[in-house]
Amino acid sequence: MSSSPSAETAEAMNFVDFYKKVKRFRLFEPSVGILGLTVCVIFCFFLLDYTSARKGVRFPSQSERLLWLKIDGDGEGGNHSSKKIDFLSEINGGCDVFDGDWVWDESYPLYQSKDCRFLDEGFRCSENGRPDLFYTKWRWQPRECNLPRFDAKIMLEKLRNKRVVFAGDSIGRNQWESLLCMLSSAIVNKDSIYEVNGNPITKHKGYLVFKFMDYNCTVEYYRAPFLVLQSRPPAQVPLKIKTTLKLDQMDWTSSRWKDADILIFNTGHWWNYEKTARGGCYFQEGPNVKMDMKVDSAYQKALETVVEWIHREVNTTKTQVFFRTYAPVHFRGGDWRSGGTCHLETLPELSSSLVPSHTWTKYSIFSQVITAHSNVSNSRTFDVLNVTHMTSRRKDGHSSLYYLGPKVGPAPLRRQDCSHWCLPGVPDAWNELLYALVLKREANKTSNSSRYYAQV
Ligand SMILES: *[C@@H]1O[C@H](CO)[C@@H](O)[C@H](O)[C@H]1NC(C)=O
Ligand SMILES: *[C@@H]1O[C@H](CO)[C@@H](O)[C@H](O)[C@H]1NC(C)=O
Ligand SMILES: *[C@@H]1O[C@H](CO)[C@@H](O)[C@H](O)[C@H]1NC(C)=O
Ligand SMILES: *[C@@H]1O[C@H](CO)[C@@H](O)[C@H](O)[C@H]1NC(C)=O
Ligand SMILES: *[C@@H]1O[C@H](CO)[C@@H](O)[C@H](O)[C@H]1NC(C)=O
Ligand SMILES: *[C@@H]1O[C@H](CO)[C@@H](O)[C@H](O)[C@H]1NC(C)=O
Ligand SMILES: *[C@@H]1O[C@H](CO)[C@@H](O)[C@H](O)[C@H]1NC(C)=O
Repeated sequence: MSSSPSAETAEAMNFVDFYKKVKRFRLFEPSVGILGLTVCVIFCFFLLDYTSARKGVRFPSQSERLLWLKIDGDGEGGNHSSKKIDFLSEINGGCDVFDGDWVWDESYPLYQSKDCRFLDEGFRCSENGRPDLFYTKWRWQPRECNLPRFDAKIMLEKLRNKRVVFAGDSIGRNQWESLLCMLSSAIVNKDSIYEVNGNPITKHKGYLVFKFMDYNCTVEYYRAPFLVLQSRPPAQVPLKIKTTLKLDQMDWTSSRWKDADILIFNTGHWWNYEKTARGGCYFQEGPNVKMDMKVDSAYQKALETVVEWIHREVNTTKTQVFFRTYAPVHFRGGDWRSGGTCHLETLPELSSSLVPSHTWTKYSIFSQVITAHSNVSNSRTFDVLNVTHMTSRRKDGHSSLYYLGPKVGPAPLRRQDCSHWCLPGVPDAWNELLYALVLKREANKTSNSSRYYAQV
C-alpha cells in the first residue's frame, strides 16, 4: 500500500505551515519583519496560485505579480543587486561571496530532478512526495557583488579535457550529483554522459567517474568520509579495535585525486563518536593507537594532514583546490537516532541561524588549521568554499521524510534525514559559487596587468 499523502492533506499542511510562519515572522525584529512579510506575500500568491489552479480561476502571470512586488529575480526588495558590482569584473577587489542572503528567485531551480539521470533516489524529494517546492526557489546573493549566472556550456568549455574530483563524505556526493545535473542540463544527448566503468550511480561505494564525451571531461566522486586512511589496526591490539584511522596518511584513493584540474574536498559528518569508537574504529598516529584521543583533536590532525598533502603533493598551478566547509545538520528535538525532525521547515531562516553547536566547533577547528597553514606557507594554496554560514540558514532544504523513493513514500516521522539535501536545492548554490571561483581564477590569469592599472 502506498502511504503518500493525498493532495488535500498536502494542501492543508501547506496552509498550516504558512500560517505558522506568518505568526513567527511577526515576532522578528523589524528589518527581518519586512523580509518576512515579503516572503509571506509571495507565499500568499503561491498558495492562491495553487488553489486557483485547482479551481480553474485565472490569476495574473508570475511576471506581472513579481513586477508589482518589485522582486525581479535580481535581488531582494530594498537593495537592488543590479547596482552591485559583478564578481568577475576586474575592479572587484575583495567581495566576500559567502557573505550575503538567500533571495527568492522565480527563475530557479536550474534543472528538474526528473530530467536528471544522475541522482540518487534519496535526493529526489519532490518525486518522493515532498509537497512544497519553495526550497528550490532560493538563490544565494552576496551582499557586495553579483555572482555570474550559472551557464553549463561555459563551465563545460572550461572543463574541456579536464578532470573534476570530489573527495569526501556523502554530503560531497550530494554536491557532486548536483554538479552532474547542472552540467548535463546543457547536453542534449544524455547517452554521451556515462560512468567509465559502467557502474550504476545508486548506492555505489568507492568511486564513480562520469565522462562528458563531447568535452572529454570527467566529473568524479571518491568516497572518503574521513579523507585520511581507514584500515586494519596494527597487530596485537585489543579485540575491540576493529579498524583505525591513520591520521597522518591520506586515503588510499588520494593518488587519483592529486592530478585533477579541480579538486573539491569536504569532511566533517563522520567525525563523531557514533561513526568511530562506537563501531570499533580508533585513531592512530604513526604505529600508535591513541585510545584516549578525542574526536575533535583527531579531526584537527586529519585536516592538517590533508592541508600538508595539498602543499606537498599537489601542483596548485595546475590544480585548483577547494575545501568546502562543514554543512550543518538541522535536527530539532533530537538527533538522527532519537526522532529529530525538520520536515515542517519550508522556509530558510532569513536572519539568524539555529544549528547545533558542533557545527561551529567543526567550523572553528577548520578555520584554525587553515589560518595556521597560511601563516606557515605565507600563502593559501587552496580556496575555501566557506558554505557553513550560508547553509546554516537552510533548515528547509533537507530530504527529511522524502528520501525513500516514490514507491515507498515518506519515511516514518522518527526516521528523518536532516543532513542530506534535496536536489535541486542547496548544493546547487555551492556549485554556483564554485563556478564563480573557477571563472574568477581564469579571469585573474588573463587580465593580471589591466587589473593592476584599474586598482591604482
Ligand atoms: C566565512 O564566511 C563568514 C560569513 O561571511 C565569515 O564571517 C567568515 O569569516 C568566513 N570565513 C572564512 C575562513 O573565510
Ligand atoms: C546595499 O548594497 C550595498 C553594496 O552594493 C551595501 O553597501 C549596502 O549596505 C546595502 N544596503 C542595504 C540596506 O543592505
Ligand atoms: C582527454 O582528457 C585527458 C585528461 O583528462 C587528456 O589526458 C587527453 O589527452 C584528452 N584527450 C583528447 C583526445 O584530447
Ligand atoms: C605544475 O603545473 C604547471 C601547469 O600545468 C606546469 O607548467 C608545471 O611544470 C608543473 N610543475 C611541476 C613541478 O610539475
Ligand atoms: C598568524 O599570524 C598572525 C600575524 O601574522 C598572528 O596574529 C596569528 O596569531 C597567527 N596565527 C596562528 C594560528 O599562528
Ligand atoms: C584573484 O586575484 C585576486 C587579487 O590578486 C585575489 O585576491 C583572488 O584570491 C584571486 N581569485 C582567485 C579565484 O584566484
Ligand atoms: C601578467 O602580468 C605580467 C607582468 O606583471 C605580464 O608579463 C603578463 O603578460 C601578464 N599576463 C597576461 C595574460 O596578461
